[in-house]
Amino acid sequence: ALERTFSIIKPDATRRNLTGKINAMLEDAGLRIIAQKRIRMTQEQAETFYGVHKERAFFPDLVKFMTSGPVVVQVLEGEGAVLKNREVMGATNPANAEDGTIRKLFGESVEANSAHGSDSPENAAIEIAYFFAGAEIVG
Ligand code: CMP
Repeated sequence: ALERTFSIIKPDATRRNLTGKINAMLEDAGLRIIAQKRIRMTQEQAETFYGVHKERAFFPDLVKFMTSGPVVVQVLEGEGAVLKNREVMGATNPANAEDGTIRKLFGESVEANSAHGSDSPENAAIEIAYFFAGAEIVG
């Protein structure tokens, strides 16, 4: 079914001017970028967005990293968009990611792994609503 997912191009990737290359990979996979904006995440936004990880040892570093530079937040639409985006991104740890994936090509570490994608349609809806108003999404 036609589905939507939420994506972030992370600070390590914007720093290296990789936004266009990553967008081309998403589009080549059949995903349509139906909303997109470049923002500097606030500490509060990062803490809330990654709230499920707040007890994890890596949480403070994750928040610091995600607020360290610009990110590009996106809504992607396509057939099975959640899974498709996860396939294009590859495994969370770039060392374990398949060849040809965003994280394998561009990721620097498990933290600076260039991209985030929702893990389920339910979380996608929550994540999209956190960063985008309805009128900003043009499907
Ligand atoms: P992301 O998909 O954005 O969701 C949570 C993020 O935590 C994850 O990608 C990783 O970039 C980051 N992270 C940092 N350290 C770890 C770790 N040890 N295990 C899993 N995720 C980590």
